[in-house]
Amino acid sequence: NLPWFEDGAVSVQDEAAQLCTTLMDLLPGQRVLDACAAPGGKTCAILESCADLSEVIAIDESEDRLPRVQENLDRLDLSANLLQADAADIEQWWDGQAFDRILLDVPCSATGVIRRHPDIKLLRRESDIVPLAGIQLGLLNAMWSILKPGGRLVYATCSVFPQENHRIIQRFLKQQEHAQLVPIEAGWGLDMDAGRNLLPDPNSHDGFFYAVLEKPDA
Ligand SMILES: C[S@@+](CC[C@H](N)C(=O)[O-])C[C@H]1O[C@@H](n2cnc3c(N)ncnc32)[C@H](O)[C@@H]1O
Repeated sequence: NLPWFEDGAVSVQDEAAQLCTTLMDLLPGQRVLDACAAPGGKTCAILESCADLSEVIAIDESEDRLPRVQENLDRLDLSANLLQADAADIEQWWDGQAFDRILLDVPCSATGVIRRHPDIKLLRRESDIVPLAGIQLGLLNAMWSILKPGGRLVYATCSVFPQENHRIIQRFLKQQEHAQLVPIEAGWGLDMDAGRNLLPDPNSHDGFFYAVLEKPDA
C-alpha cells in the first residue's frame, strides 16, 4: 500500500540489511554472486548500487522463496540470473567462472530480527545453533572456493549469537590460512575482532553481523 511501491520507486529494507551492500565495494564490470538470495532485498540493492555489473547470479535453495526474488526484480525493473540450488553444492550449478564479489547472507537463528518475527522466541531451540553453524561454515568454505583471487566476500547474518558470527569467521580463518580479514572501520556496531556486530535497537535497526574477507591475488 505504500505510494509508488508497486511502480518500483521505493523499496523497504532495514538499515542493518542495507549495510551489507555498502561493504561489498561493488565496481562496474564485476561478476557478483548473491548466494542465499531470497526474497531478494539484497540482490536488488546490489543491482541498484552499481549499474554496470557484468553479471549478478542469485541463488536460493528454496523453491517457495526464489520466486519472491523475481517478483522484487520485476517490480524494480532489474534483472539477475536466478538459480534454485544448494549454493554449497557447487558441482551442481557452478559454470567454472570465479566471482569478483560474493554476498553470503547465511541462514541463521534470526535472533537479530525477533521484533519483526516474535515467533522466533517460541520456535527456535538452543539445539538449532550447532547444526546452523555447521551449515554456515560449509557455505562459507564452498563460496570461498569460487571467489576470484583479489575478490571479496561479505559474510552476514541477522543473528546476535557469537557461534553464528565471529566464531564462524575465526574457525574459517584457521582453515583458510590465506584468507584476509578486512577490518570494518565504522562508527556503528561493535568490533568483534573477526567481524562487526550490530545489536538490535528498538527505535532503529535490526541486529546483524558482518565480516569482510578478501582472497589475495595469486
Ligand atoms: C537470511 S535469508 C536471505 C535473505 C536475502 N539475502 C535478502 O536479503 O532478501 C537466507 C536464505 O538462504 C536460503 N538458503 C538456506 N540454505 C541454503 C543453501 N544451502 N543454498 C542456497 N540458499 C540457501 C534460505 O532459503 C533463505 O532464503
